[in-house]
Amino acid sequence: MIDKIKEHINKVNLFKTVDPKEINSFRIKYLGKKGLLNKFFKFFKDVSGKEKKSFGRELNLLKKAVNEKIKTLQALAESFDEASTDLDLHRPGYHSGIGSRHPLSIVKNRIVSIFSQIGFNLSEGPEIEDDWHNFTALNLPEHHPARDMQDTFFLRKNPDILLRTHTSSVQVRYMENNSPPIRILSPGRVFRNESISARSHCIFHQVEGLYINTQVSFADMKQTLLYFTEALFGKSKIRFRPSYFPFTEPSAEVDIYWGLETETDYRITKGTGWLEIMGCGMVDPNVLSNCGIDSKKYSGYAFGMGIERIAMLLYQINDIRTFFENDIRFLKQFSSTV
Ligand code: PHE
Repeated sequence: MIDKIKEHINKVNLFKTVDPKEINSFRIKYLGKKGLLNKFFKFFKDVSGKEKKSFGRELNLLKKAVNEKIKTLQALAESFDEASTDLDLHRPGYHSGIGSRHPLSIVKNRIVSIFSQIGFNLSEGPEIEDDWHNFTALNLPEHHPARDMQDTFFLRKNPDILLRTHTSSVQVRYMENNSPPIRILSPGRVFRNESISARSHCIFHQVEGLYINTQVSFADMKQTLLYFTEALFGKSKIRFRPSYFPFTEPSAEVDIYWGLETETDYRITKGTGWLEIMGCGMVDPNVLSNCGIDSKKYSGYAFGMGIERIAMLLYQINDIRTFFENDIRFLKQFSSTV
């Protein structure tokens, strides 16, 4: 008989409903005049002295369990008003979608990881710069006409404090505080006072690289950049076009051969098959000496590219402004684990 009571205690504990009718029949089943508890109590009188104690204890436990169950179920039922009776507590919760990385971060991370495999370390610096680190140390003295290549935002009408126009400023800071060999990559946000259009923006992102050691040659740079374009674009044909930057000599623009297979290829390469992807050159000896590096002993190369431009090519995006609009429909198309 004791086992039977224990079985009931179990059943009571497992019983679940929010239907008041069911709660009532549960109550009657156990506590009613002809209910189970009364039945057991009647039986109790005839239990032998030995068993009486444990029988009584189990019986009390059952009574307690029934009373408590009724109390909680009634409270639960009350909190279910008419409108929410079809609420299903067992239904799994709504899935709140996780975000995806911004396409610019995806591309930046890929570039960083490609260069990190050949020993380039990350180096970052401030977005608010002084004239020395952004211009003068880079062989762009005051009134140098090449300053016009990068229209600048100045802070508080103080011509010495500005928003960096490229991340070459980070390289200057690094050279000032470290000695060769130097192999760094500086990704970051840069600012230029340009009007906003589908092709250009006043805020964009760059990755610049710098390698300084003894006997660094133009051929070293070519090989490194070829490795990079193969890894990122899967294209192994590149060319170097002579160009001009005040901080490198000689300087070049790097083009990759994109191909002319589709109509889009014709459009983005203007029918030539070639696409310009970055600027580069051998670091001007003046820049090395400005940063305290012996330019007779050391040489180096530098390169720089716009992340937006690369991302636009990789994802076939034709308006740079989409990167800054935070439109979820645009952003959720990109997913990546890097
Ligand atoms: N700093 C240049 C720019 O912003 C890019 C560059 C970097 C070119 C290093 C050559 C060497 O346009």
